[in-house]
Amino acid sequence: MCAAVRVRISGRTRTGLHPVRHREHERMVADEVASLAMVGFLSGRRDRRRSVPLTLSTLSNHGGAMSTQQGPSPFDPHPMKGFPQVCYVKNTVTNPQIVVGDYTYYDDPEDSENFERNVLYLFPFIGDRLIIGKFCAIAKGVRFVMNGANHKMSGFSTYPFNIFGSGWERVIPTPEDLPYRGDTVVGNDVWLGYEALVMPGVGIGDGSIVATGSVVTADVAPYTIVGGNPARPLRRRFPDDVIEELLEIRWWDWDPAHITRHLEAIVSADLDVLRAAGRSK
Ligand SMILES: CC(C)(COP(=O)(O)OP(=O)(O)OC[C@H]1O[C@@H](n2cnc3c(N)ncnc32)[C@H](O)[C@@H]1OP(=O)(O)O)[C@@H](O)C(=O)NCCC(=O)NCCS
Repeated sequence: MCAAVRVRISGRTRTGLHPVRHREHERMVADEVASLAMVGFLSGRRDRRRSVPLTLSTLSNHGGAMSTQQGPSPFDPHPMKGFPQVCYVKNTVTNPQIVVGDYTYYDDPEDSENFERNVLYLFPFIGDRLIIGKFCAIAKGVRFVMNGANHKMSGFSTYPFNIFGSGWERVIPTPEDLPYRGDTVVGNDVWLGYEALVMPGVGIGDGSIVATGSVVTADVAPYTIVGGNPARPLRRRFPDDVIEELLEIRWWDWDPAHITRHLEAIVSADLDVLRAAGRSK
């Protein structure tokens, strides 16, 4: 357990969130929006002009059972028959602070149903959330460090004396002493490589790729490949005008039957074909 756990309890409100987070939480509920964090950045400089909110309603393509003609069911935890190491994550997550969209899978030969163990330091009294869009591929060992990981850094020592009690509890930090970076938001159609680590509050734009073993400390622009520690852009996957249009088309929001009909367009790199598919809805 991280030091912050015991610290934040001192700042709890009736909702279990400390005062700053409580206000944020109320605003979010009022808006009926799962996340105010945005995806769809045009640049890595937190430029959110063209952002599209990732809401609970945008995380599901439909509400009911499907026929096999429409591809696999997003409600099937193990859609690859005979291959249980692949799991559609939304079917196994129980923590309400983790929200995952349809078709996003976690691949882990050891325990594919236990994606949650990779979401570290996520505590209800802090209230931050991990929000992941649709059609993401999450490789084994991808981990998310959440805001509960933080210690007070402004004093001479970062050691969490207070959690051990026996007189040391008198140096409990206030909530404001602890860094808080908000929700972690992964967009749609993001490929997170083996053992990538994502730090608190990071936004990863639609269509991005996080290279094997990267440590993502800052926002990632859409359709950008990042790698290293700290992860830096390796390259953009497409020219800016193409990316802009892909973010308009948002194929991942099409209904499953339409996606199934137009798979070839989705996996091609021919914008005219994808655009035509989008118009034929
Ligand atoms: C990033 C990746 C997609 C390759 O993309 P690419 O555009 O073809 O990249 P290249 O191999 O041409 O390498 C481009 C640059 O990225 C660097 N790079 C590649 N992988 C990297 C990594 N994991 N971390 C840091 N840098 C990386 C290369 O060293 C190279 O740097 P240079 O230009 O200074 O020489 C691939 O390396 C990767 O990490 N794939 C994820 C695989 C995975 O984890 N799968 C899990 C199962 S789904």
